[in-house]
Amino acid sequence: MKVLVAYMSSTGNTKKVAEAIFNEINGEKELKRIEDVQDIGIYDLSFLGFPTHQFGPDKKTKEFLEKQCTVGRKVALFVTHCAPEDVPELQEWMAKFKQAAAGANLVGFFDCQGELAKSIEMMMKIAPKKEIRFFAKSHNSQGQPDEARLMKARTFARDTMNRMG
Ligand SMILES: Cc1cc2nc3c(=O)[nH]c(=O)nc-3n(C[C@H](O)[C@H](O)[C@H](O)COP(=O)(O)O)c2cc1C
Repeated sequence: MKVLVAYMSSTGNTKKVAEAIFNEINGEKELKRIEDVQDIGIYDLSFLGFPTHQFGPDKKTKEFLEKQCTVGRKVALFVTHCAPEDVPELQEWMAKFKQAAAGANLVGFFDCQGELAKSIEMMMKIAPKKEIRFFAKSHNSQGQPDEARLMKARTFARDTMNRMG
């Protein structure tokens, strides 16, 4: 089985999760940045990872997923976000990633917290929208993804691989 692990990452959080997943996979595998991926059709299984931007996938992510996630392709998604895993809105944001990938056979999904970069935090703190300012003050994401979260990512990789047989 040929496996792809591909990720988009501006500040390194999703990359860390991608590497944790990649290192857990045995056999034929490739680790790439999303921008270097032409066609996931040549892989038997693709783990695709993205950060959350503005309450869901950004435009580029959505377009990538809609284009690549076509019938018969096996895809496992992983997503990072600075909001804690238990905020209720998260379900809705994660559903947007799943929706964009819905054309494929979605065989796994993992998400975890990733530290909000200081520069972005400062911009958000002075944003015109009250909810963005509130968000910037309450995300509590320093140091994420930590080792516990990376362990969960490894478990996710193993479980997904085991399900594939
Ligand atoms: C422009 C921008 C918008 C973001 N919007 C959200 C958001 O809506 N919800 C959230 O939980 N995190 C949000 N984040 C935080 C990132 O999703 C989070 O820090 C992520 O782990 C970054 O991953 P990366 O280091 O791989 O780029 C945003 C970050 C940026 C830069």
